[in-house]
Amino acid sequence: MDLAQLTRDLESLAVEAAAALAGAPDVAGIDALELDVLGKKGRLTGVLRGIGALPAEDRPKVGAVANHVRAQIEGAIAQRRSVLGSAELDARLRAETIDVTAPGRPIRRGSLHPSIESMAEIARIFGQFGFQTYESPEIEDDLTNFQMLNIPPDHPARDLWDTLYVDIPGYLLRTHTSPGQIHVMRTVKPPIRALLPGRCFRYEAIDASHGSEFFQVEGLMVDEGTTMGDLRGLLVEFAHAMFGAGKRTRFRPGYYPFTEPSVAFDVECLVCGGAGCPACGRTGWMTILGAGMVHPVVLRHGGLDPERYQGFAFGMGPERISMLRHRITDLRLFLENDLRFLGQFR
Ligand code: PHE
Repeated sequence: MDLAQLTRDLESLAVEAAAALAGAPDVAGIDALELDVLGKKGRLTGVLRGIGALPAEDRPKVGAVANHVRAQIEGAIAQRRSVLGSAELDARLRAETIDVTAPGRPIRRGSLHPSIESMAEIARIFGQFGFQTYESPEIEDDLTNFQMLNIPPDHPARDLWDTLYVDIPGYLLRTHTSPGQIHVMRTVKPPIRALLPGRCFRYEAIDASHGSEFFQVEGLMVDEGTTMGDLRGLLVEFAHAMFGAGKRTRFRPGYYPFTEPSVAFDVECLVCGGAGCPACGRTGWMTILGAGMVHPVVLRHGGLDPERYQGFAFGMGPERISMLRHRITDLRLFLENDLRFLGQFR
């Protein structure tokens, strides 16, 4: 190994490096090349290993050539890297452009289920009469769903509520929201103005106006000197707020074991305007609730003295109310959860 040979090796390394650099396709290729030529175990280091075999006076000369070659390669790499780097950046910017003027994908707007929406409206209107909303359980015991409400075991009135029982003996899916009356009377001191919305369950033959699962909104007012006239005035006022002033209403005698006297409250059928249609069973009237004066036995079970307190209660069907508000003729639609139906109530 002599000075001339080493110098030639260094120069040809410079030439090869320049050629390889020109052929590098991208920044990653340049990185690899840099490691291969200038790295710790790279080719330049390899060539310089021969330096030890040279006479002492030649070594600085080779060192000078080597430094020059290194600087030359480094400069070329830096230049090429910046050219390829900005080309790659340009390409990325072009590929990842976001067109902010594009029209955009619409997001589907949701809506409340009509039953929920009607219950909110019911709560809003009764809220104006001072009624507060309470919750009571969907799984009840036989005691609260029936016996406390003056419906003893084996009483024929039980036939009014075909019941779905649960696995726990003595418990059932509430057949109405009326057990909420007991819970409220035992929790709240009179004067009571309570609203209890909730889901109810019955083992029913399903038709256009009866479901096995439906909502009810129970109302309860208890105070000293509450009368049937208060009930009547309140319900007529409610019907006018809900369906429009001047809509015809009527009270009919009814029967419930937990109210005495009991009534059914009808509103003129808004689907047919009173002419008779499937929604109202061709009567021209829609029964939207059952009601009456709270039976003294029930007041006593609620912990109240019937000599001092009187009250009325009602249980209304928000699905029936939705049918009138939206001119819907079949209650089954509320349970099917068909978005083509539900999407119409926005
Ligand atoms: N709970 C009764 C029913 O489900 C309705 C009702 C409630 C009647 C309150 C009178 C008083 O049929």
